[in-house]
Amino acid sequence: MKLLLAPMDAITHQAFRNLVGRFGGCDEYFNEMINASSLLNDGPWEKFYLFEGPEPQKLVWQLTDKNGSKMAEAARILAEKNGIGIDLNMGCSAPQIAKTGAGIAWMTKPLSETCDMVRKVKSALENAAKDGFKAKRLSVKLRLGDESYTEEKLHNFCAMLIEEGVQMITLHARTQKQKHSRPSNWQAVENLALRFPEIPVVLNGDVKDSVSFETAQKTAPHTQGIMIATAAAQKPWIFAELKNLIPAETSNCNEMQGLFDAEQLALDFIDDVEKFQPEVFWKTRLQRFFAFYCLNFSFGHYFQSQMLNSADNNDARKRLHEYFEKCPDDKIFKLKNC
Ligand SMILES: Cc1cc2nc3c(=O)[nH]c(=O)nc-3n(C[C@H](O)[C@H](O)[C@H](O)COP(=O)(O)O)c2cc1C
Repeated sequence: MKLLLAPMDAITHQAFRNLVGRFGGCDEYFNEMINASSLLNDGPWEKFYLFEGPEPQKLVWQLTDKNGSKMAEAARILAEKNGIGIDLNMGCSAPQIAKTGAGIAWMTKPLSETCDMVRKVKSALENAAKDGFKAKRLSVKLRLGDESYTEEKLHNFCAMLIEEGVQMITLHARTQKQKHSRPSNWQAVENLALRFPEIPVVLNGDVKDSVSFETAQKTAPHTQGIMIATAAAQKPWIFAELKNLIPAETSNCNEMQGLFDAEQLALDFIDDVEKFQPEVFWKTRLQRFFAFYCLNFSFGHYFQSQMLNSADNNDARKRLHEYFEKCPDDKIFKLKNC
């Protein structure tokens, strides 16, 4: 059973992935989505999306755009870099993405258009391999579809993807409009995995701890991987905790006796944001991260509002120190199952 870090916009950049890496990492790290048009325009911030650490060989580059030709051109650029492969974002349902024809819009526009985009991207990857670059896997992350979803429609769509050369599918098993308050349909992931045994099918949605991890595996025993988003944003050590539940896997949390300094971890994150993100992104990247991270602690909502109101990085450092001084019992954090 593989463990995958989900793509999260403004979160799964290198500074965050370094945190996951410190706890022994995961099998695949999905980068935050990269807009193909922006990458091709070579804007001032694009290079910050292209850091490959901490384990370049385990990185997956996720692409988004409304334009298939641009996605293919961008795929060629990424195919020359390290990593396992390129993932096509067909699941993002945020209105500002879907309305432009990107994200989940690829599941709802005429099939021939999506088929053409996938074919172009696949061909770009094959050409890069012919030119001597390491072959890259083509994968897709999708949802169930729009509100007219039926299993038959989803399976026909995935059959087209596989015919066009897609080698792995991650299913976030909700429809376009279903909110996170509704449970993800793990049975639909199992049915997809049973229908397409020729490729790995990865389950995503609602796996947040040992219990949900084990229940998801029981409900979808034919899935080959579990991808985690929000729970990893809150607990970058979640993969270390879950690895100990997988037979024949060992996580390095035993070596550290499952203990770490939560203040130091957050300080190191801020240092890495300064190293791996442009200054204009510092504030939003800290806000995105601390919105999740602070919820691990006794006075999570108070801590969160303190951190979200930081004036700048040094103020954030000061506020971190103040919190752990007030709540010293929160400072040394204990991992579960370790
Ligand atoms: C802050 C945030 C940013 C996200 N950004 C992306 C993204 O860039 N690409 C993508 O395919 N999904 C994105 N997602 C969706 C997640 O990858 C995942 O499918 C969803 O959160 C369900 O998984 P979970 O229950 O483990 O959180 C994002 C989710 C969150 C919470």
